[in-house]
Amino acid sequence: MKLLTLALAALTLTSAQAQQSLKPTGRWEHQPVGTSPTPPMGWSSWNAFRVDITEQKVLDSAGVIVSSGLAQAGYRSINIDDGWWLKRRTDDGRLQVRTGLFPSAATGRNSSLRPFTDRIHAMGLKAGLYTDIGRNACSQAYDADSPNLPEGTHAEREVGLMGFVEQDIALFFGEWNFDYLKVDGCGLSSYGRDRPHVASGQYREYKPTILEGNINQSDVEGTKKLYAGLKQALHKVRPANDYVLSVCLWGTVNVRAWGQDYGTMWRTSRDIAKGFSQMVHNFDTVATREFYAGPGRWNDPDMLEIGNGDFDGNHLTEARTHMGLWAIVAAPLMIGTDLSKVSPAIIDILKAPEVVAINQDPAGHQGVLAYADSDRQILVKTLADGRKAVLLFNRTGAPARFTLTAEHLKMDATVPIVLRDAWARADAGRFTGSREFELQPREALLFTASGKHMLPRGYFVSERPGSVYVARDGIRALEQDPVVYRALASWSTTDNGGTRPAYAGWGGPRADSTPYDQALSVKGQSFRHGIGSLADSRLQVQVPAGSQRFTARVGVDDSTRGKSAEVSFEVWGDGRRLAATGPIRFDEPVRELVADLRGVALVELVARQHGADAAGPIVVTWGEARIE
Ligand code: GLA
Repeated sequence: MKLLTLALAALTLTSAQAQQSLKPTGRWEHQPVGTSPTPPMGWSSWNAFRVDITEQKVLDSAGVIVSSGLAQAGYRSINIDDGWWLKRRTDDGRLQVRTGLFPSAATGRNSSLRPFTDRIHAMGLKAGLYTDIGRNACSQAYDADSPNLPEGTHAEREVGLMGFVEQDIALFFGEWNFDYLKVDGCGLSSYGRDRPHVASGQYREYKPTILEGNINQSDVEGTKKLYAGLKQALHKVRPANDYVLSVCLWGTVNVRAWGQDYGTMWRTSRDIAKGFSQMVHNFDTVATREFYAGPGRWNDPDMLEIGNGDFDGNHLTEARTHMGLWAIVAAPLMIGTDLSKVSPAIIDILKAPEVVAINQDPAGHQGVLAYADSDRQILVKTLADGRKAVLLFNRTGAPARFTLTAEHLKMDATVPIVLRDAWARADAGRFTGSREFELQPREALLFTASGKHMLPRGYFVSERPGSVYVARDGIRALEQDPVVYRALASWSTTDNGGTRPAYAGWGGPRADSTPYDQALSVKGQSFRHGIGSLADSRLQVQVPAGSQRFTARVGVDDSTRGKSAEVSFEVWGDGRRLAATGPIRFDEPVRELVADLRGVALVELVARQHGADAAGPIVVTWGEARIE
């Protein structure tokens, strides 16, 4: 009951708080956690070995990372996932390494992973480790039969951060000199009294504060607080911010919205698996979250399965598709296969220079959906040099036809567009207006495209989502996102209720779409380009030096739920109000907004609601929002 009240309190902003967070500040509010201007790249033990991990296996893959040129390609972080610990020593709280698996850690009474990180660093690589924000880890709940679980009393087996944050962070980043930490959340979700491993007395109960699939019973603010403490501890040990913090909460507790303020990257979905449908599900959980990522902050659909199962050496089409999808959405690229065993063809896919370059593009924009139906998707990612990367994805098991248009690319339909195949690293011809493609089952094509922008001068804000920070999303009540397909991996049997994933964040702002995934439209007039948001939102937009004007055609969207309350639209520049409409309501024609941007570095787009609307949130459209 207490938890429920807490959760409700967290969901209902008081009107004073609401007015405060709507107020433009004139300064970019995102503060990076750690440092990773482009998506993190590396290798992690989990998808390859689960808890069946040894130091030798990690070193073998690290060896291949170097010898195969993968390190050169950018894969530098070698990450130990779950399974490395023996116990927490109870007299001083110090964590002990399972030296049977990590022999170099047997350094006397104080086992230490420093010899391991020294070795990794000497190879020119970086080292990563894994822990849990709660008392216990995921393996203790889900790999109960493993011989590699922590041993001893309750307290000795409580190897997670809870109660030991400062001590453990000092150990990992100070003494042991790691560069990267993944912090899981099973300690908050999987130790309820009804769990067999708790009921049997094996683990101490922790009343779950994260309930997968149940946002209303999850403690969003409490979880944020724990990660805030972690951030503070990291700052103490690494004041230069030179680390990567990977938040692993599987898309629960609305982390898809706040992950960017507490981590360098944050998982948007439950665990990936080596089956095609689960991979697609994970992709879907990031595909609509383009405004939540950017340089230094990355949506994470989970580690790669390339080399495994549906993505192994016998399934190179699927392996390329997986890689192409992660590239276009600027996802972290963490290899998850035993590199000492994979075929050269798999290494070549992981290394593909022009594909990796799309992922690592310095502008850090996530690809935006330009077209989507159940079977086919087209995503377009703006690159730093003005070119576009475009991915055509056939989700189905049958061949599929695609028409790629200049409009998808936001390019002039009368001027030739030059395509280059990112896989073949070869010219792929040119087209004017549109071009047809036929894709094989599960195939994704990936090109870069050069042409003339459809705007004579300038660009649409929706093309550069990495320059946007969602300072306030306008969401009043957390709702599950219904557009994420429920592709369920078979980690549950069919004789129970199953574990249904659910992701909050429904209603967050979107590029070229309403927040509820409809086409943008105001009083019957539709917009293929623009931003959809909810009222009482504030979006920060970084604009390049020399920008002259912001223009947009704004109004209450036809798909709005609330139809009676009025909304005014305001454009702010560096903390000054530059332009505004008067109050507008549903079914009124679009208004033109023009703001002079000379000398302005930061634009803030505010949609302010006047009065309550019992029917629901007001959906607003910034049609053709552009910078000239
Ligand atoms: C969770 C995480 C995985 C992995 C395992 C380890 O399931 O989501 O990525 O780290 O825990 O037990």
